[in-house]
Amino acid sequence: MSTVPPHSPLDGYYGEGAKRQGYVDDLFNETAKHYNTIEMLFLNGGLLYRRLSLRAAGLRPGMQVLDVAIGTAAVARGAAKIVGSEGKVFGVDPSMGMMGEARKVFRGPLTRGIAERLPFADDQFDFVTMGIALRHVSDLAATFREYLRVLKPGGKLWVLEGHVPESKFGHRLTRFVWARVIPGMTLVSTGSREAKLLMDYYWDTVEQSVQPDTIVDTLSAVGFQRPRFKVVVPGAFCEYTGTKLHRSGA
Ligand SMILES: C[S@@+](CC[C@H](N)C(=O)[O-])C[C@H]1O[C@@H](n2cnc3c(N)ncnc32)[C@H](O)[C@@H]1O
Repeated sequence: MSTVPPHSPLDGYYGEGAKRQGYVDDLFNETAKHYNTIEMLFLNGGLLYRRLSLRAAGLRPGMQVLDVAIGTAAVARGAAKIVGSEGKVFGVDPSMGMMGEARKVFRGPLTRGIAERLPFADDQFDFVTMGIALRHVSDLAATFREYLRVLKPGGKLWVLEGHVPESKFGHRLTRFVWARVIPGMTLVSTGSREAKLLMDYYWDTVEQSVQPDTIVDTLSAVGFQRPRFKVVVPGAFCEYTGTKLHRSGA
């Protein structure tokens, strides 16, 4: 299967495609200290939402979880509460700055790495999670193959992403909020041009992202069962889920 980039290159930010991952790492390293302030602009509703959504997706006490792109542990904190002391949440991320922030609120193991080449053994996790980071990988197919590899048979993938409504009006309204209002509020609340740039980059990657059908088709092509796309908060969040086949084929 050929590679499936999550969006076409945004040369205005990093010059050429080969520089994308280094650019993204630098951006997150520089803005890690502001990430929780940005979450607070949303009254930390995103943290609660992530936890409720994980529970609804089937995360249960005692499970082993890999949170890819852990960032400041917005997903991992919720997952750790659900799996409790019998379970375990592992975090992986390329940004040392983001993981430094995660370390302040999250006790589980943290490993440096990227989604496309996970530093974990086969068949290890009941759940793989990824919050608001799918647009940062170089290839959706390689990423989803890795997720399938590290999941136990019967294990589940849960991916949270930004959402752009299909209707013209919904798209325009969402663009106004994410390309104007939120970067402006970010600049005012953090005083950081880099933090504003992070939110500009967020919107551009969300708007330029491949369509949900492409993501679902790629999940299916690499071997995920029951790949699904769900809009959760129009203009804000959507979810992708899929399951690894049980050994029995069930
Ligand atoms: C917007 S933050 C999301 C953090 C957290 N998961 C959340 O839900 O808020 C995106 C994260 O993706 C990470 N990232 C960037 N490129 C990545 C890659 N190729 N593989 C895995 N994570 C990556 C960044 O370092 C950053 O911590």
